[in-house]
Amino acid sequence: MYDCLLTNLNNGIFTVTINRPTKLNALNFQVLKELASLLNEIEANKDIHSVVFIGSGEKAFVAGADIDEFNTIDANDGMRISKAGQDLFFRIEQSKKPMVACVNGFALGGGCELAMSCHIRIASENAKFAQPEINLGLIPGYGGTQRLVQLIGKGRALELMLTGNMIDATTALAYGLVNRVVPIAQLLPVAYEMLHTIQSKAPVAIAACIKTANAAGNNGYLAEQTAFAECFATADKIEGVNAFLQKRKPHFTGH
Ligand code: COA
Repeated sequence: MYDCLLTNLNNGIFTVTINRPTKLNALNFQVLKELASLLNEIEANKDIHSVVFIGSGEKAFVAGADIDEFNTIDANDGMRISKAGQDLFFRIEQSKKPMVACVNGFALGGGCELAMSCHIRIASENAKFAQPEINLGLIPGYGGTQRLVQLIGKGRALELMLTGNMIDATTALAYGLVNRVVPIAQLLPVAYEMLHTIQSKAPVAIAACIKTANAAGNNGYLAEQTAFAECFATADKIEGVNAFLQKRKPHFTGH
């Protein structure tokens, strides 16, 4: 169904592999279009509870936007493409279903931006991160200028954007760009274990955590009040509190 994406659903976890290994999984327009369709599928499919993104092979997560396609692009196209890329990554960031980036190699340009739009990032020891657009006379255009500042602070973000330098996984961890660094063989198992833990929680509360974290700096306290109140209206809140009081494990249903 997709030319550039491989998918697999297991135990509620939908694994999405960006599959253009000969181009280091660069995000061409086809991949972006397929990701947009895939997000429709993810939103509609009740059997999908969470999502993992990974790159094909062991060399790259995603080595950026496809530079070949940038050759013929003018300013009008640039505006349109940036808007489309931003919209796509907003949809990932605002998804009610937890999204984890398993960064298994280069996460450059749009690859770093894709990873940053996910809720959690786990990197393999060989992962490398950069926003190298400056080397092309460009800047990040899929939300990277904003999310990099949010995640690692303005000074470090500007150093990365202005120099185009790559950082390794250890530095990315120290900067707070990734949550964990693990051996490459452990990348998916660690993500799956984390998502199994998350999937055992109440879905309304999961979505509320994501929504309120996204609202940080933009009326977040008010968003928190509303989301907190919404949780109190759920059967899962009754189940969670009763289970604690009865000293048993809760069984959440999403209601
Ligand atoms: N767009 C299009 N093609 C890309 C690409 C990108 N962002 N990144 C890598 N590729 C292609 C290469 O052109 C090469 O294709 P070819 O075999 O047809 O010539 C193939 O992927 C393998 O890459 P190669 O450069 O040979 O691998 P390497 O190990 O020597 O270097 C990188 C790896 C990631 C350092 C290097 O490919 C690179 O700098 N890529 C561009 C990164 C970038 O600037 N991204 C931001 C774009 S806005």
